[in-house]
Order: sequence, then structure tokens, then C-alpha cells
Amino acid sequence: MTTQPGDAATKKQLPPLPYCQPDISEEEIAEVVDTIRSGWLTTGPKTRLFEERFRDYVGSKHAVAVSSCTAGLHLMLMAAGIGEGDEVITTPLTFCATVNTILLQRATPVLADICLDDYNIDPEQVEAKVTPHTKVIMAVHYGGQPCRMDELAAIARRHNLLLFEDAAHASGAAYRGKMIGSIGDATAFSFYVIKNMTTGEGGMVTTNNDELEDKIRLLRLHGMSHDAWKRYDAKGSWYYEVLACGLNYKMTDVQSALGLHQLARLDGFIERRARIVDDYTRRLARLPELVLPKAREEVHHAWHLYPIWLQGERLSIGRDALIEELKARGIGTSVHFIPIHYHPYYQQTLGVKQGDFPNTDRLFAGLLSLPLFPRMTDDDVARVSDAVEEIIVSHRL
Ligand SMILES: Cc1ncc(COP(=O)(O)O)c(C=O)c1O
Repeated sequence: MTTQPGDAATKKQLPPLPYCQPDISEEEIAEVVDTIRSGWLTTGPKTRLFEERFRDYVGSKHAVAVSSCTAGLHLMLMAAGIGEGDEVITTPLTFCATVNTILLQRATPVLADICLDDYNIDPEQVEAKVTPHTKVIMAVHYGGQPCRMDELAAIARRHNLLLFEDAAHASGAAYRGKMIGSIGDATAFSFYVIKNMTTGEGGMVTTNNDELEDKIRLLRLHGMSHDAWKRYDAKGSWYYEVLACGLNYKMTDVQSALGLHQLARLDGFIERRARIVDDYTRRLARLPELVLPKAREEVHHAWHLYPIWLQGERLSIGRDALIEELKARGIGTSVHFIPIHYHPYYQQTLGVKQGDFPNTDRLFAGLLSLPLFPRMTDDDVARVSDAVEEIIVSHRL
């Protein structure tokens, strides 16, 4: 099948469709403006309230708002005392922040390959990588689908390890009826602009462990014994002590104003995402060249991503050219992720190379994420699906 010149002209008239877009209501904008007027430009009462609401939403004992998920991951490792000589097992199919925060602590990231049914870390591979130096399993809930937490928790118990979670994609996800954020020893969420809920930049750490919470709060605020915002209110005192070498990883009330609203809308966002996913899957299922994402039956998937896996053997087009053809039709896509072992920095520092993790390598060769965000219309989904189908059909060998 070839594209007709007339088709191209029609397609050109369609506005560009990004791969992701936040949904910010007028009410939220008004609350942000009110917050600025209130004078609480940094951490204050709205951040406290956001922490409480998030804690109640996930059902954890504590929630600490931070400046990003990266900051949250770093704080979790710092608070647990992870340092030189320690090993942290994680997945090669993740964003660089998961690994960078381990390296910042001078600890060693140890990569374990993924399962091909959900693209999450494979518990059997994790077990095989445990050594006397292992201290933490860092589970990453790829695309919003929770990892096999029972299996990971059993390994952690057997070897006396901490189970940490990078839930950058998984706000609103659940595993066997338990919300992500209430299961592992500590969990970091991202509220970056394109995530399931957003504060522009921002994140949250949840934990049921009092000691970890205390340390994370301390380290979030330079290691100072007092919350800075208390210093400036009527009951505050000028006195503080530095008890540890901390950082400035706080969330502002301006961000929290947005976060409070976004949290209240999160379940609705995920419902809409799930409907879009069903629609995509129904439309694309007729293409045998695609492996489509599926939710495992024991999870509530947060559907942050819709990753498709192109099986290129019988096609004259590969993943990279498919991305370009979609781009030419005004459709944005992304790749989650260029695996850790493909990046020069980790090849040099960790001694890893392409081909080291066969499942990740196979998947990455054909992996791309289609547009997925709550404001997408049914017509947008049809447009993307039709474009994918048309390109694939026209490149069949
Ligand atoms: C898996 C994963 N972990 C961590 C992060 C970092 O999140 P943030 O941008 O909030 O620091 C991201 C961001 O995209 C991510 O995808």
C-alpha cells in the first residue's frame, strides 16, 4: 500500500499531536496565583497538606514532598546510609536518574534483566545478582505497571535487603489491592510535567518507616534540625542545628497548590488513560507485527505509557524510521528508555555494554511509546492508530 499525495496534504492540515501533555484546569491556575499572593513561595502549609493527602491516598505512614523524584531517590539512599562498597540492584530499562542517584552515593548499581511480559525487572535475575555487598533492590514500575512485588519482597527478606521503589510512572497504581507507595521500605514518585499528575517539577517519598522519614526530612532541608518555614512563622525560633550533611530538596507551596488539585483528579486521569489504552489495543490488535502492552491480572496499572514493540523481521521499516514517519504526520512519540547499558557514561563506569541484557536488548530494538494523555480525544487515538497501521502495512515485505 502506498500513501497517496492527497493523503499527505490532508494529514499536513492536522495540528501536531504531542506524545504527552499535562491537564491543568483554570481552578488550579487560580490556586497557584492565590498561593503566590499568600506569600508562601517556599515550603509552607500547602506542602504539609499535600503530604497528608498523598499519604492518605497511598495509605502509607509518611509522605515527604521533594523537589523531584530524582531528589526523592537520592534522599532514600542517603537516609538508608547507602555508600561506597554497597550494591543496589535495579533494571537496565530505566531513566538515568535511577542509576545516577546510586552513583552519587558512591555505591554500585547492579543491573538485572527484565521480563518480557511487563518490561519490569525479573525477580529471578535479581536473585542471581545478590552478593554479600547487596543492600537494596530498586524496583522501577515501568510505564505505571507495578513490578512483581511479592517475589521481590521475598528476595529482600531472604537476604536482608531494603526494597525501594522508583514509582516515577506509578502514581495511582496498585499491586494486589495495595497502593504503590505503601508496600516497599520507601517509594519515590515524580510529578514532572508529563507524569500522571504534575506539579511542574516535583516528587514525593512515602515510607512506613519512622526512622527513614525522619532522616529524609532532615536531609531534604540541608540537614537542619528545624523546618525552615517554621523559623519564619510567629512560633518559630531563630535557633537550629545542622545534624547531617543534607541538601535543598524541598517542594514549594506553589507546586503543592497544583499538586493538591492534581491528586484529587488522579484517579479520573488514570480512568481516561485506561480507556485510551483499550481503544489503542482494540485498533492495533490486528497488526501481528506489534506486541502491545498488557496489564498483569494482579495489578492496577497506572497507564503512564503505551509502549509498542515493533517486530521488524517481515517489514522494510524499523523502529527509528517508524518514529520519523509518525513525526512527518505530526505525531509525537518517545522511547522509554534508551537502556542504561547503551549510554557511554555507564559503559565506562559500570563496564556494561550493548548485548549484556538480552531481553532488554531485544525489546529496545523495536520499542516506542505512542501518545497517551487524558486530554487526547477518541479522534486522536484513531489518528495515531490509523497512521501506525498505514505505515506498517505499506512496509510489509
Ligand atoms: C523511571 C524514572 N525514574 C526517575 C525519574 C526522574 O523523575 P524527576 O524528573 O521527577 O526527577 C524519571 C523521569 O522521567 C523516570 O522516568
